[in-house]
Amino acid sequence: MWCTYKVLVFTLVAASHLPPVYVLEFCPSAEPDCHSREDAASASQSSTHSVKSRWSVKSSNVTHNLDHFKVSCKKLIDAFPVDEVDGNFVRTVKNCIFSKSTPTALTGPLRLAVVSKDVIEGILDLDINVSQSEDFLLYASGSRLLPGSVPLAHRYGGHQFGYWAGQLGDGRAHLLGQYLNRRGELWELQLKGSGKTPYSRSGDGRAVIRSSVREFLCSEAMYFLGIPTSRAASLIVSDEPVLRDQFYNGNVKKERGAVVLRLAKSWFRIGSLEILSESGELDLLRNLLNFIIKEHFSFIRLDDPEKYLVFYSTVVNETAHLIAQWMSVGFAHGVCNTDNFSLLSITIDYGPFGFMESYDPNFVPNTSDDEGRYRIGAQAEVGLFNLEKLLVALSPVLTQEQKKQAKLVLKDYRKVYQMRIHQIFKAKLGLVGEEEDDNVIIAFMLKMMEDTHSDFTMTFRELSEVSANQLHNRNFTQMWALEDLSSHKLFSDWLNMYMLRLSRQQSDSDLDRQHRMKRINPRYILRNWMAESATRKAEKNDFSEVELLLNILSSPFVTQATAEKMGFAARPPRWARSLKVSCSS
Ligand SMILES: *[C@@H]1O[C@H](CO)[C@@H](O)[C@H](O)[C@H]1NC(C)=O
Ligand SMILES: *[C@@H]1O[C@H](CO)[C@@H](O)[C@H](O)[C@H]1NC(C)=O
Ligand SMILES: *[C@@H]1O[C@H](CO)[C@@H](O)[C@H](O)[C@H]1NC(C)=O
Ligand SMILES: *[C@@H]1O[C@H](CO)[C@@H](O)[C@H](O)[C@H]1NC(C)=O
Ligand SMILES: *[C@@H]1O[C@H](CO)[C@@H](O)[C@H](O)[C@H]1NC(C)=O
Ligand SMILES: *[C@@H]1O[C@H](CO)[C@@H](O)[C@H](O)[C@H]1NC(C)=O
Repeated sequence: MWCTYKVLVFTLVAASHLPPVYVLEFCPSAEPDCHSREDAASASQSSTHSVKSRWSVKSSNVTHNLDHFKVSCKKLIDAFPVDEVDGNFVRTVKNCIFSKSTPTALTGPLRLAVVSKDVIEGILDLDINVSQSEDFLLYASGSRLLPGSVPLAHRYGGHQFGYWAGQLGDGRAHLLGQYLNRRGELWELQLKGSGKTPYSRSGDGRAVIRSSVREFLCSEAMYFLGIPTSRAASLIVSDEPVLRDQFYNGNVKKERGAVVLRLAKSWFRIGSLEILSESGELDLLRNLLNFIIKEHFSFIRLDDPEKYLVFYSTVVNETAHLIAQWMSVGFAHGVCNTDNFSLLSITIDYGPFGFMESYDPNFVPNTSDDEGRYRIGAQAEVGLFNLEKLLVALSPVLTQEQKKQAKLVLKDYRKVYQMRIHQIFKAKLGLVGEEEDDNVIIAFMLKMMEDTHSDFTMTFRELSEVSANQLHNRNFTQMWALEDLSSHKLFSDWLNMYMLRLSRQQSDSDLDRQHRMKRINPRYILRNWMAESATRKAEKNDFSEVELLLNILSSPFVTQATAEKMGFAARPPRWARSLKVSCSS
């Protein structure tokens, strides 16, 4: 009987592309307060407490006003031909990477809804009080241009839902310029929701409060979970009416416009290269590739004849790693088109994303995605599809031999992904070293979670908080997710296997295991109902809950009194079950 189960489990693993790679970095290495949060996590070990300060960014060199704040577009404009046609009318653009495009100011009174102190101080070198100024409101909403800014809309193409979609491009985003911060990092500032561009197609260039709150909160939440992502500095809302058919069912509703100031080291996507390749603009393709390699893959030498192959291999590996990290927190992106996939393998373009609650490989965050093309369990395969398209785009600049090599690299993608998943889930279970049956322990557990609809986040979290003694006695008092899991008829079999495995980890105390696991298994994620509740208030100009969520999700591994009171680690409320993800944005 046991053997049968084992075979079954392995089949499942293969089918749902589970298990993984590498040394995990749960704390982004550039993050100064990583260790203090670790300590806080350990300190909170058994008792609930609030976090006093989530900020330990050294504020000594921050600037207290915007007078000297400058961005630059020189590097980008010098490197590439720019479409000089003036005007934000929709058109087909050729032979350039960017079009000049001026943001359209939002009308009506503007309000600063929320800022990320971590971004404002830690990346933009600004005192947080600067964000309260009128100047900031104007700059961050697109009403006034920052000194040095030559706003640009990026021309790209992409495969959407499996098919080549031709020219897409920034339809409602403006790149303001690059900012070189005091740490020597170059960040690209972009406004989203800032009006029409040459790439707006049928869109109005605006974003609504609903989708902007979600993007703002999720990019920051992902960062604090340790997952590579674009960042969000601020969210500004207006009274400008924007019409949206939220569920594509003919019910057009008047909503309000909002602008997010977002940042990434680079916004180039797979689709950035695809469009050049598709239209035979090969000099420009080489030009863009060389630029990206020089700026972001500096370990590759530009005079290396294999540079494009090494670039490709790196993107393949890093994409596998990124998707594995998404899976480790139950994140479903929702629109994994090639134009939504970053060449730096960071998470970008937060739209109809969702965090999985009950474990279900078929979880689909976009309710209009009837076929489940971008269901959570398919993300790794969609990544492979996108990387195939990247290879097609690169083909004109690769030799026959390099193309052959690149195909071999792509063939290893699944292996790289599986290795990474395997490592991540081992860490999530607190397993050290490598034993033959580790795969079984992982897959067996996931299968039980699927059968019992256990909450993905809280099952792992409670397993991190429970003592070996409680486990042994199956005492799951106040552990609702473990209680659900333990209702499985094979739970005892799994538990025995797991406890035996743990007991073989010599020199690993139960407390060590708990600490380790609590640093990788978050207690708080941005559940859809949480975002929805904050959004409803935001639409009535009450931003307190957005702020609260930002605060709590900035320390997702630390138990916090307020979050507990709000039920963020409790069984989701009844009303959450009937909630649909708002699709149009
Ligand atoms: C602040 O700036 C000064 C001079 O620019 C520099 O020497 C110092 O290292 C900086 N300190 C921090 C904490 O960044
Ligand atoms: C921010 O605070 C500094 C002192 O820390 C002050 O000099 C500055 O005027 C303040 N700026 C604004 C916009 O309030
Ligand atoms: C990609 O990952 C594989 C497997 O870990 C490794 O052998 C290879 O060197 C990596 N390639 C690059 C370019 O990092
Ligand atoms: C993702 O790409 C699609 C086009 O494929 C685009 O319409 C959409 O705006 C992008 N998603 C987000 C959230 O930006
Ligand atoms: C959701 O899926 C549907 C069906 O595939 C698609 O048409 C729509 O664009 C998706 N929504 C978003 C925001 O990408
Ligand atoms: C179960 O665990 C809780 C929390 O550690 C403890 O307070 C309680 O006494 C335990 N109950 C039993 C029956 O062991």
